[in-house]
Amino acid sequence: MIFGNTYKILFRNTLIGGVGIAIFAGALVTFIELRRIDNYLADITPKESEKFFKLYEKFYFNRTNKSLSGLKQATKKSLDEDFFVYVEFLDDQLKKVIQVSINDYGTIVPRLNMKFGDIKMTGRFNHKIIYLKGQVFIKVMVPIVSQKAGKHIGHFQGIYHLSDDKFSQIKKQSYFSIFITIIAVLVTVMFIYPIIRSLQKKILMQSFELLRSNTDILKSFGSAIAERDSDTSSHNYRVTIYSVRLAEALGLTSLKIRALIKGALLHDIGKIGISDAILLKPGKLSHEEFEKMKQHVAIGVKIIQYNDWLQDALDVVRFHHEKFDGSGYLSGKKGDDIPVNAKIFAICDVFDALTSKRPYKNPFPIEQSLAIMKEDSEKHFDPEYLNAFEKIVYELFLQVSRFETEGLLAQQLNQILRGYFKVHL
Ligand SMILES: [Fe+2]
Repeated sequence: MIFGNTYKILFRNTLIGGVGIAIFAGALVTFIELRRIDNYLADITPKESEKFFKLYEKFYFNRTNKSLSGLKQATKKSLDEDFFVYVEFLDDQLKKVIQVSINDYGTIVPRLNMKFGDIKMTGRFNHKIIYLKGQVFIKVMVPIVSQKAGKHIGHFQGIYHLSDDKFSQIKKQSYFSIFITIIAVLVTVMFIYPIIRSLQKKILMQSFELLRSNTDILKSFGSAIAERDSDTSSHNYRVTIYSVRLAEALGLTSLKIRALIKGALLHDIGKIGISDAILLKPGKLSHEEFEKMKQHVAIGVKIIQYNDWLQDALDVVRFHHEKFDGSGYLSGKKGDDIPVNAKIFAICDVFDALTSKRPYKNPFPIEQSLAIMKEDSEKHFDPEYLNAFEKIVYELFLQVSRFETEGLLAQQLNQILRGYFKVHL
């Protein structure tokens, strides 16, 4: 249950990652396939051109008007049998000898003629692949070399039209390769996911244990102070519960409430440094003694200030005795200069002191406690926060009062801690 949401996030991220890799792999394979098609097309045209070279070579060694007409006829016949739609021969001086095209060539691809001059005569094989209207044309320019003559005897230029069947076969092969690659990536991700999830679970368990240890230490510190103060841990637990509920009513963020919980549990940690003679004195403290007692705030700050995880608890530890009118201690801050968490905690701390039994007094009823506090509103407390507290306190007090023993209170607090200190990745 604790990890349910985290697993959803993990699954979603793994899926997004998997689809991302599949798209990337698909794009890579598409690129490779396009290169393969280019190479394939570039390979077929020289082979297909060879028969035309032979026709020209035959003509070259017997150049008469009759043989020129024979070359034209033979070329035309070859065009009908082949996939070349246009052919022309040039002599070794690059002067056109003949040009032949299939009858409807002009209507099929009128733009190809204009593009024909794109290929520069370099004396070696040149080609250009053109995708036009869903069809593939390859323009070639090949020097014709005769072994018999031992030199270049002319040039062949042509436009090869790849048949629809062949083109469709190439496309099918490419689509299949892309499809298989994407499936392979997704299947791999599917197999890897349980491994990632298992590793994630181990990390989560360790993080959860670590957080639980930290919150247990918080409670232990709180209890240690309570023991020192001849009190029980119940006060610490109650003020923490009150503070969380008031913070929730005020709409504070989870981050702020986590800080408030830490601060509430540790608020009087500085009392460890106060002597028994002052801390446990049954009667009223003298002025000097009270001045020393005030120092529990500074001692508390000193104890936790170098602990990174407790930095956000400093607001409460340092300012929990400040008053709204600036008459509190130790800094004398007032109004909105007092951090929100400290103002919330001050209300809950005083309310619990008033409604609890002490060696020197019986608990005040809730109405009387609130009346005393309201008298101090704007002096001690932020009036807005006190109003909010008054709205929730009757029901809250009833709930908390049901947890009569320290054990039940601890259970209630643990539930709050689990809610606010769950593992976040
Ligand atoms: Fe205190």
